[in-house]
Amino acid sequence: MDFNNNQAYTFSKDPHSFSNPNLAHVHHVDWDLKVDFDQKKISGSGVYHIRHQQAPEIVLDVHHLRIICAWLDDEEQPEEFTFRGEKPFLGQGLQIPLKPGTQKIRLAFETTPASGALQWLEPEQTAGKTETFLFTQSQAILARTWLPCQDSPSVRFTYTARVQVPPNLLPLMSADNPQEKNNSGTYFFRMDQPIPSYLLSLAIGDLAFAPLGERCGVYAEPSSLEAAAYEFAETEQMLLAAKNLYGPYRWGRYDLLVLPPSFPFGGMENPKLTFATPTIIAGDRSLTSLVAHELAHSWSGNLVTNATWNDFWLNEGFTVYFERRIMEALYGQDYAQMLHWLGYQDLRHTLEELSAKPQDTCLKLNLENRDPDEGLTEIAYEKGNLFLCRLEALVGRARFDAFVNKYFSTFQFTSMDTARFEQFLEKELVNGDEELKQKVNASAWIHSPGIPEGIAPQKARLFEKVAAELQRWETGTLARQLATHNWSTHEWLYFLSNLPKNLSLTQMQELDEAFGFTASGNAEIQAEWLRHSIRHGYKEAYPALEAFLVRVGRRKFLLPLYKALLETEEGTGLAREIYRKARPNYHSVSTSSLDALLLQTP
Ligand code: BES
Ligand code: ZN
Repeated sequence: MDFNNNQAYTFSKDPHSFSNPNLAHVHHVDWDLKVDFDQKKISGSGVYHIRHQQAPEIVLDVHHLRIICAWLDDEEQPEEFTFRGEKPFLGQGLQIPLKPGTQKIRLAFETTPASGALQWLEPEQTAGKTETFLFTQSQAILARTWLPCQDSPSVRFTYTARVQVPPNLLPLMSADNPQEKNNSGTYFFRMDQPIPSYLLSLAIGDLAFAPLGERCGVYAEPSSLEAAAYEFAETEQMLLAAKNLYGPYRWGRYDLLVLPPSFPFGGMENPKLTFATPTIIAGDRSLTSLVAHELAHSWSGNLVTNATWNDFWLNEGFTVYFERRIMEALYGQDYAQMLHWLGYQDLRHTLEELSAKPQDTCLKLNLENRDPDEGLTEIAYEKGNLFLCRLEALVGRARFDAFVNKYFSTFQFTSMDTARFEQFLEKELVNGDEELKQKVNASAWIHSPGIPEGIAPQKARLFEKVAAELQRWETGTLARQLATHNWSTHEWLYFLSNLPKNLSLTQMQELDEAFGFTASGNAEIQAEWLRHSIRHGYKEAYPALEAFLVRVGRRKFLLPLYKALLETEEGTGLAREIYRKARPNYHSVSTSSLDALLLQTP
């Protein structure tokens, strides 16, 4: 079988897109966009270059987007268009009839207040507090809420964009980016490598740039630029380590953008420009595995892309594995082992939580008629990673790395589904070795729930001493007398996640006085502590809890905190009260998960 034949490329059937790229597909777009902060609206047009063989029509995805007009090629007469479908969370198919020789279609459109990818921020929601801000989040299927597109990860296209913004703001995209503002407010972008729609992105704000090396830099609001540049100073080294592991970096520059704290994710691998939450700026570079993660997506995800959201584990499992290889290259094995162990703990919690939905714990998912967001669990990340670690252990690092290298070079700039991955694995790694095939047991990992028996990562060496100190505390040693100096963030996270289930308020107080968790400047540590505080009714931490929930919009922190509050009646009241205040600061990705839990039904 030929894995990379662009001529006869067949697009995977995608249950989350109305488009049919096998009949007609978009391969390049030129957008012209105007961003209006007063009306909170992006309006503009796009010229879509298409390929087809006398297809009667082309279908694009749109959702909460207003289509104003459509034209074929350079015709002046508008073309009729119709909408197909209309399904909750999927939106509609925009159907445009084609003539036999049509090469381009032009569309005029504008976003609406319901365009879920967009978050428009007031100045108070930014670091500088003086300028407005806009950012997009397209993954998984929100690109169609701000740009008409064939919104399936198996369709790739190049693009350019002309973007007009207010003169005091700088726009950035997943493309070649400007490093400073100009006087006209008009900027031109190009992305020469073909990308899927979920990687389309735009951010606009009072942004400044600081270089981090030859090919790397960071954008942030001026007041946080210095802290960001310090935190991410090792980015270029990560890029070097990544290239050494799995082959050339195909995207030119690699820059980071620090967003306001309402950004709903830790990071998003928008090509050439990773979007990142400011909550990883801890002051001590201890949360930068997130940068390694988003950087690793430049190979796993952006270069070789999951064909549908059912194959999401191919993006995230590979990326988690790769992230930890980068961290190991920079900081050594002990460090990487801590990340693996913490990830494994999370995986075990997720397996428990999903015990009533065992099918959702297979690597290959079936998300038909469901929001692809439901596939965003630790299964794709940590079970995927564990499977790859298992492969590495079975064949040895040298052979496994050669396999991964070949995977990226063979399939670069194409999409991959789970079945084709299984074939490639069989051919390139198993290669007729029956005994190895048994041990690999790919179909159990991929198509069966849970983790195969007897599988666990090696326990991190550095956590042994944390476990010993925990034990000492539980048997009477005072918290402030524990040997905790030199502990890194990860050791603290292990400590917090392995505290005994039931603590007295006196014990909570003792820990807090000894270690200052409530006031921790490290968002991971603080969030984990706040969760304990809710569980134990440790009220001293509630003002910090409220401040955190009002400021931070990162869904990974919000869900566990609100869920913990909802476990008691008193907490439920508080959760609703805080949510009322905090909700205006959350992106739709976060509110769509939280509304169901927290909005009172009358
Ligand atoms: N691509 C994901 C974020 C994502 C996944 C957004 C699916 C929408 C749908 C990104 O690479 C990611 O995994 N982010 C993680 C951080 C990572 C270190 C585990 C996050 O945001 O927490
Ligand atoms: Zn990821």
